[in-house]
Amino acid sequence: MAVKEILKMGDPRLLRVALEVDTFDTPQLTALLKDMTDTMKHAQGVGLAAPQIGVNLQVVMFGTGEPNPRYPEEAPVAKTVLINPIIKPLSEDTEEGWEGCLSVPGLRGKVPRWKSIQYSGFDERGLPIQREANGFHARMVQHECDHLWGILYPMRIKDFTQFGYTEVLFPGLSDASDD
Ligand code: NI
Repeated sequence: MAVKEILKMGDPRLLRVALEVDTFDTPQLTALLKDMTDTMKHAQGVGLAAPQIGVNLQVVMFGTGEPNPRYPEEAPVAKTVLINPIIKPLSEDTEEGWEGCLSVPGLRGKVPRWKSIQYSGFDERGLPIQREANGFHARMVQHECDHLWGILYPMRIKDFTQFGYTEVLFPGLSDASDD
């Protein structure tokens, strides 16, 4: 296990634009993905981006392939490693939804996101990925990829009455993990 420290909002390393990965299937990339997996599991997150552990590369991971107790109504998202991603909205429609972030612990906010997107990129072996996603899946991809452009979800909130402490907003929430 290599559980890394997760950087918190305020750290300038979270505000950088990450660099593209140019070589795949390397021991360095394998080691990074292992660290990210260990760190995400340890923190009970549903997604993580490399910049959150201080690595300035365009690498994100999300999904567990299992239903998430925090989002029981949503279809499980396959465990995915996405490198050098590109996101395109499939329509102009946006929707607001609650988000949390391991780099912004203890808080939740309502964030507008594209409802429906196409995302593409590469897996850890350099094989292309191209998918369409809606709802929670689309939101998770947009949240994680934002970390690669130096954007944290509070920077996207429009209505700050919908931003606060998880324990106050959702007093019954037993699983207080963040993504
Ligand atoms: Ni996050």
